[in-house]
Amino acid sequence: MVERAYARRTMSTTISLRVNGQDERHDVEPNQTLLAFLRDTLDLTGAKEGCNEGECGACMVLVDGRAVNSCLMLAVEADGREIITIEGIGDAEHLHPLQAAFLKHTAVQCGFCTPGMIMTAIGLLAENPDPDEAAVREAMAGSLCRCTGYRQILDAIHEAAGVMRVVPAVEFGMRGPAGPSGVAPGLMAPGSAEAAAGVKVLGLPEMAP
Ligand code: FES
Ligand code: FES
Repeated sequence: MVERAYARRTMSTTISLRVNGQDERHDVEPNQTLLAFLRDTLDLTGAKEGCNEGECGACMVLVDGRAVNSCLMLAVEADGREIITIEGIGDAEHLHPLQAAFLKHTAVQCGFCTPGMIMTAIGLLAENPDPDEAAVREAMAGSLCRCTGYRQILDAIHEAAGVMRVVPAVEFGMRGPAGPSGVAPGLMAPGSAEAAAGVKVLGLPEMAP
């Protein structure tokens, strides 16, 4: 009897979800966090394990377009959801406006907090494309950085927000989280004119695709 109860508690569950535009179907343990699933099962290590208790923001990802601490969400709760991680928003050749702005403002040092910072900021800008200083500070309050000055991070977010208001959101090879356009805000198609324009606005012509 005790063995049967134990087996029930540890029985894996199959979940289906979409991660960075890819359909995924995997068995997960009942106590496995979304963060562990992303890192260990899908090998998406951009979301970082910092505190593992919702305090640092290093593990932030988008779940149906909203920024969520993936260390606080169980993988089973992600069944049927759309997840976007830092790997889904840009790469070295096709930077998201926030990534370009973080570089421009030297808002990165060791980089451990950066994926979480950027995903948190994307979540903020999806809800409020033109946040004032107080709104940015409030949204970023759960994201901790041990090396870079917060001033640079705030400046980078403000500048990227300006770019994202000018540059139309277009699809980045995936169906993004639900927004008014049905497309992830600020995501720019690799090699697109919008991507080049966004990077130019940020004064990083060498990053242009
Ligand atoms: S690792 Fe999730 S909030 Fe710190
Ligand atoms: S850049 Fe090192 S923790 Fe933020």
